[in-house]
Amino acid sequence: MSVPDKLREGLTIPAIAAPMFLVSSPDLVVEACRSGIIGTFPSLNQRTSDGYEVWLSEIKQRLKRVEAETGRPPASYGVNLIVHKTNARLDRDLEITIRHRVPLVITSLGAARAVVEAIHSYGGLVIHDVIHLRHAQKAADAGVDGLIAVCAGAGGHAGTLSPFAFLGEIRAFFHKTVVLAGAITNGRQIAAAQLMGADLAYLGSRFINTRESLAPAAYKEMILGATANDIVYTAAVSGVSANFLRGSIIAAGADPDNLAPHGGLRVTADGEAKAWKDVWSAGHGVGDILDIPTTAELCRRLRREYRAARSEFAEAADDLGPYPLYPLGN
Ligand SMILES: Cc1cc2nc3c(=O)[nH]c(=O)nc-3n(C[C@H](O)[C@H](O)[C@H](O)COP(=O)(O)O)c2cc1C
Repeated sequence: MSVPDKLREGLTIPAIAAPMFLVSSPDLVVEACRSGIIGTFPSLNQRTSDGYEVWLSEIKQRLKRVEAETGRPPASYGVNLIVHKTNARLDRDLEITIRHRVPLVITSLGAARAVVEAIHSYGGLVIHDVIHLRHAQKAADAGVDGLIAVCAGAGGHAGTLSPFAFLGEIRAFFHKTVVLAGAITNGRQIAAAQLMGADLAYLGSRFINTRESLAPAAYKEMILGATANDIVYTAAVSGVSANFLRGSIIAAGADPDNLAPHGGLRVTADGEAKAWKDVWSAGHGVGDILDIPTTAELCRRLRREYRAARSEFAEAADDLGPYPLYPLGN
């Protein structure tokens, strides 16, 4: 198991605030990093490449100030690039990413060797998110530094595999950084992800309900009232299977129990952006999201819960309690 030194610096718990389309903001990134959690955002959260560059400059300056104020380095920050022919901005956004020497790049959809090499050329790290073993193997061949196992119940384009099964399959052949995603919302689960063999936990939905997220108030309210049963896994919204809040599908005028199998719900001239603006994504972890704290408050709580879970487990390991139930051989 490994986390490169460059990512370890400034980390107070092994966690990443995951990139979320139309949700992650520079404020969220800076506050997460200040609190010792890796903060990230998708380049496409700004409508233009120039806007993306403005955000990068702002985040870098603010993180420098954080370091000067606190006297210790904040956690690294990262950006998400969609590596796919449908992303007309990829070349320009990649050029900006390289020029700004972004420490961590999270690639989605495609893992291209040329992109990985371009980011490695200035010392940047690349981790790639996957929902299938085949994609994981392709990304490993492209030379990525880490893989994100996006498992069942994750927000956004979730997978369908159990984290126990998928993490094990990735670990069997990949010996670099492995990140676990899917319905992780508290510090105890971050500790559990580590115990399962992940190096880092990846939290998306939990950060929608922070003061700094760009999600509208009604979206955050809907999450407060939702449980895992209110999450619908469907390709009807954008053509690719993802998890959405049932209430937002109804509000968009569709019947969540009778959706077209592939696209067609809200795919308009604006395509993907319009779909994600009108129909709100979240993962199975919503039942554990009961407030809208500041990012700093949330990170403090995650840290407290993580530490408590680690010490509880260490104590429990000394005392096997009622186990073993059966006599052991040898
Ligand atoms: C509203 C929303 C938007 C998302 N947008 C993106 C995105 O633009 N790029 C990406 O790589 N992942 C995106 N994701 C997926 C997250 O990065 C992460 O994999 C996921 O949220 C983890 O599962 P969790 O929400 O259960 O914590 C999105 C997730 C949500 C909930």
